[in-house]
Amino acid sequence: MLYLINFKTYEESLGIKGIKLANLIAEIREKLNADIWAVPQFTDLKEISKIVPTLSQHIDSVLFGSHTGSILPASVKDAGVMGTLINHSERRLSLDKIEGIITVSKQLGIKTVCCAADIKEVMDIAKFSPDYIAYEDPELIGSGRSIAQEKPEAISKFVEVLNEINPEIIPLCGAGIATKQDVQIAQELGAKGVLVASAIVKAEDQREALLNLVL
Ligand code: G3P
Repeated sequence: MLYLINFKTYEESLGIKGIKLANLIAEIREKLNADIWAVPQFTDLKEISKIVPTLSQHIDSVLFGSHTGSILPASVKDAGVMGTLINHSERRLSLDKIEGIITVSKQLGIKTVCCAADIKEVMDIAKFSPDYIAYEDPELIGSGRSIAQEKPEAISKFVEVLNEINPEIIPLCGAGIATKQDVQIAQELGAKGVLVASAIVKAEDQREALLNLVL
């Protein structure tokens, strides 16, 4: 399974705290041979991408030029990321923008993990062939209630639909995932990875929380 730890914009994952979390991820990756990637805050990308495989939390569909305030795909690549998360429920994009970002990312050779909030969106996004689609139920994000426990049938449906449309796109899921049991359910339902944020970043003991997820 692939584990994406989304640092979001939590105070607990900014700067030195984010770097500490990345080092913990690196240690557990190594010890348990677990495929864990970090999705840190933008200002920490350069440093954290030297420690663990890293995705940015967003990019814009722009090339070099006059785009003040945009997140240039080439700049996150230059910072060392292997790809980008896009269209997270907290950073929604139009289909046009999603298509543009996926096209630019392919040109640059970076991976795209595109979030989708429902099956209709999964079907729309799949046409653009991102590397991964991550199905996250917005209602359950940050709720402490796991999509694997609360809506397993939604994960199955997502995996089934994605496999029918384009079996090369790798299905991931997230929202409220916190434990190994959640991961096992997601895996049994066909997801190849999970996105996790609050259960790790906001845990009192991040090491224990990460071990509880992966071990
Ligand atoms: O990207 C992962 C995220 O949206 C899930 O958040 O806090 O429910 O694990 P959380």
